[in-house]
Amino acid sequence: MKSVPISHVGIAVQDLDEAVSRYAMLLGKSGPDLLEDVPEQKVKVAMFSGALPEDGGHIELLAGVAEDSPVSKFVAKRGEGLHHLCVYCENIEAKLAELKQAGVRLIDEVPRTGAGGSKIAFVHPAGTHGVLIELEERKG
Ligand code: CO
Repeated sequence: MKSVPISHVGIAVQDLDEAVSRYAMLLGKSGPDLLEDVPEQKVKVAMFSGALPEDGGHIELLAGVAEDSPVSKFVAKRGEGLHHLCVYCENIEAKLAELKQAGVRLIDEVPRTGAGGSKIAFVHPAGTHGVLIELEERKG
């Protein structure tokens, strides 16, 4: 049976440093495995890797770096918490075309570059039962 390919869970936070130390303690790690600025989305990101990094299962903490950042707006409106679920796909263009064909509302009709340089796209929560979904093309 094919397993559900979860890349990561994205959690929107107010203060990245505070969230990093809390989650490091929670996960029993000395710190995040990746810290990155994603200026395109006006966020900074801290990633705690899953057991097998290439297999996903990561936890991504996101903090907005400007008031008009989508993550800052999310936190202002709904508070900190679960922001998105990221699933892998083999061919992101094909998956977007399939969803569009089925009438699923997309935020990104064409892929963009996410943390780690991967090809990603967001699917609107209206089409996925209330959860913002990030698609990530699995590398290699
Ligand atoms: Co993400």
